[in-house]
Amino acid sequence: MSDTYLLEVKKLTKTFPGTVALDEIDFCLRKGEVHAIVGENGAGKSTLMKILSGAYTRDSGTILFDGEPVDINSVEVARNIGVSMIYQEIEDVPTVTVAENIFLGRLPRSKIPGFLNFKELFDATNKILHEYNVEIKPQRKISTLTTGERQFIEIIRAVVVKNAKIVIMDEPTSSLTKSEVEKLFSIVGELRKKGISVIYISHRLDEVMGIADRVSVFRDGKNRGTLEKHELDPDKVVSLMIGHVLKRVEKKPSERKKVVFEVKKLSVRNRVVDFGMKVYEGEILGIAGLMGSGKDELVESIFGLWPAQYKETYFFREKINIKSPVDALRYGIVYLPEERKSKALFLEMTVNDNVVPQWLFYVKKSLFPKRKREVDVTEYYVKRLSIKTPSVFTKVADLSGGNQQKTILSRLMAVKPKMLVLNDPTRGVDVGSKEEIYSVISALSDEGIPLLILSSEIPEICKLANRVIVLSKGKICAEFVDNDVTTENVIRAAIGI
Ligand SMILES: Nc1ncnc2c1ncn2[C@@H]1O[C@H](COP(=O)(O)OP(=O)(O)OP(=O)(O)O)[C@@H](O)[C@H]1O
Ligand SMILES: [Mg+2]
Repeated sequence: MSDTYLLEVKKLTKTFPGTVALDEIDFCLRKGEVHAIVGENGAGKSTLMKILSGAYTRDSGTILFDGEPVDINSVEVARNIGVSMIYQEIEDVPTVTVAENIFLGRLPRSKIPGFLNFKELFDATNKILHEYNVEIKPQRKISTLTTGERQFIEIIRAVVVKNAKIVIMDEPTSSLTKSEVEKLFSIVGELRKKGISVIYISHRLDEVMGIADRVSVFRDGKNRGTLEKHELDPDKVVSLMIGHVLKRVEKKPSERKKVVFEVKKLSVRNRVVDFGMKVYEGEILGIAGLMGSGKDELVESIFGLWPAQYKETYFFREKINIKSPVDALRYGIVYLPEERKSKALFLEMTVNDNVVPQWLFYVKKSLFPKRKREVDVTEYYVKRLSIKTPSVFTKVADLSGGNQQKTILSRLMAVKPKMLVLNDPTRGVDVGSKEEIYSVISALSDEGIPLLILSSEIPEICKLANRVIVLSKGKICAEFVDNDVTTENVIRAAIGI
């Protein structure tokens, strides 16, 4: 059983100008297994998936499906074989219902020409949603669903309408809530039961350990090893992934002498109640809290992205009024939002233009007088954050997901901010690069720049912050400093123990 593969990739190579994305890679997939792929940013994970789903074509190498060679040279060929890739930015039609979206291309017609048989459609949809334990009404419009719910619909559609035998998920949980992640796992389990194979790419080793039957580790375009479930061990995976030992960042004690930023009397309807907070020079302040604790509304209301009923904001003791992140930028306060890929990157522009974009000039006119200086700045960050790119003049669209994230971070740092607010700074970034980002964050705080950090991972906050405030029901319910900043303390406080 174990040596009959549904899919076999042998010595597959794919190059882009200046980059060998896949270097004679081998990869095998069993029927009905959940096969996770992990690896550093730029290792070639997404590229292999794009080849399997027909979006890219390979330069050389063999692909066997059910033991027979197949030439996947278009999306149609991939679809006919039964390969379905679930994209993050789902190309569904937002104004149609869940039911129509699932059955698009296979809608039941009514007896009256030109009309749909809605009863049949909704019944069939209910049945299938029920099978996957997804509680969404078939009548709902796609536009009213969360990102997670849209993904579930897309997976179900792949299986039901496209008859997928292999479902590929490339970092599916990066914009899901905790409960949506659990739901996704249960859907994945359902697929496995039905004998459908799942290829699951993720940077979150904890997820991978929980869900995968096997794990392959990619590095520099090669498969460095496929581990069976019983061989899975985080240290082993990490060492295969980065090929060296991680360097850890040291924390320094918090001084809390000079207040740089202060918010007072902040109230957000039904979410945040008379909130106050000081941020000190050189400190890394973590804000933690469960979903619904008000932490996201809190930060967004500070930046004018969420309406506050009342707030007072002070920066270097001067009263300021921040109505948008652009206002904040004028004071040198830089905000990295959660939803950044779509909003913060200029995909068609080069790495250099993304790190040092022209529009920054109005913030500080003499920032980078010459082109040469710009390129120096970009090259510095490319090196500092190990951004994998053939040159600083490569289009950002051509970088891997994690390297795009690092490009945004570089820009924030290149502005020479007076304060940084980072929402999930290492999302989609591999373990090695996480450490590099942590080291830049700690270097900024050494220069006296205060940083505010929110993260979906409490251990990450605790690793970096010298002080953490914990929110519950829109109020600070606990505060920890220096040695008391531990994952255990923060989680206990967040859940109310
Ligand atoms: N369309 C493209 N044009 C040029 N280079 C590309 C293109 N797509 C990918 N690359 C390069 O190929 C390499 C592999 O990229 P890929 O997206 O497969 O990485 P990945 O393993 O998915 O990384 P991440 O974890 O960051 O998403 C990278 O160096 C990337 O810059
Ligand atoms: Mg990728």
